[in-house]
Amino acid sequence: MKALVVGASGLVGSHLMQSGQKRGWQMAGTSIGHKQEDLIALDMRDAPQVEKTVRSERPDVLFLTAFNPNVDECELHPQETRITNVEGNAHVIAAATALAIPLIYYSSDYVFDGSAGPYREADTPHPLSEYGRQKLDIERLLAEKFPASIIIRTTTVYGWEDLGKNFFCQVLHALERDEDRVVPTDQMSTPTFAPDLAEASFLLAERKATGIYHVAGPELMSRFVFAEAIAKAFDLPQDHLKPIATSALKQAAKRPLKGGLLCEKIRQTFPGWQSHSVADSLRILQSTDRR
Ligand SMILES: NC(=O)c1ccc[n+]([C@@H]2O[C@H](COP(=O)([O-])OP(=O)(O)OC[C@H]3O[C@@H](n4cnc5c(N)ncnc54)[C@H](OP(=O)(O)O)[C@@H]3O)[C@@H](O)[C@H]2O)c1
Repeated sequence: MKALVVGASGLVGSHLMQSGQKRGWQMAGTSIGHKQEDLIALDMRDAPQVEKTVRSERPDVLFLTAFNPNVDECELHPQETRITNVEGNAHVIAAATALAIPLIYYSSDYVFDGSAGPYREADTPHPLSEYGRQKLDIERLLAEKFPASIIIRTTTVYGWEDLGKNFFCQVLHALERDEDRVVPTDQMSTPTFAPDLAEASFLLAERKATGIYHVAGPELMSRFVFAEAIAKAFDLPQDHLKPIATSALKQAAKRPLKGGLLCEKIRQTFPGWQSHSVADSLRILQSTDRR
């Protein structure tokens, strides 16, 4: 089997590349800003280039992780970010649809308003932010144009990554440098270990599943509790973690406070599948090489 990961240099994409290689898949991937010799240069805003790349790679499955996931940037620059996130994603979807290539898209618990999480697949989306609206627009485009695709909603993905952008890396780096880090106490989610998300993605692809699946970690916790667990696992003092209410952060985009995702559907589909607890995954990260 051959896969093309559009957005292979990112957090989710790089774990898909590793997971696919371990499973014996032939993996091809793209990046735009981070030039890596083994990746194909692709800007998904360029429709003819997207069409040419997808046609020449002809994967059995296309994983679409490419996005600008900066929630506040989406809020402040909706038109500009829509060109990447909505038009760019639509170019990739059109190229896959034209060749009937199964596609897996990555969405978020930010499609919900955070009044009653954690959420199931059938719950009604109601995004609070432009980022959430962009995600929902693509979900709806897929439902209309390519119902045979898979939409994976996930949340608070963490793991080693080259740029160290994710919450886990940022907290760890701050604590290792003895820097204070303000962390909200009222943003709840179900933190998701990146290798678990990658594994579930391949299980769904291999099963030729369709529709929406929630893939997330098993525990609902606040960002602050997650940060405390990171400090504990890496034996770092917790006094640099400064609790704060989300409202005091004055972020451009509203956050869904009672977020998180329930994963009964994927567990019913794959009865043996279980995502790692935060403590177990942090132990794994603590004992593996940083990239
Ligand atoms: N991380 C989370 O906690 C989380 C939670 C829920 C949903 N998601 C969703 O999961 C997906 C992946 O997230 P992530 O955390 O892996 O993001 P990420 O680390 O920021 O990676 C984004 C990827 O998109 C690529 N990209 C950006 N603009 C592009 C363009 N114009 N054309 C082609 N490629 C472009 C980037 O390439 P370069 O590296 O070359 O710039 C990178 O490979 C996103 O859709 C995100 O919304 C993530």
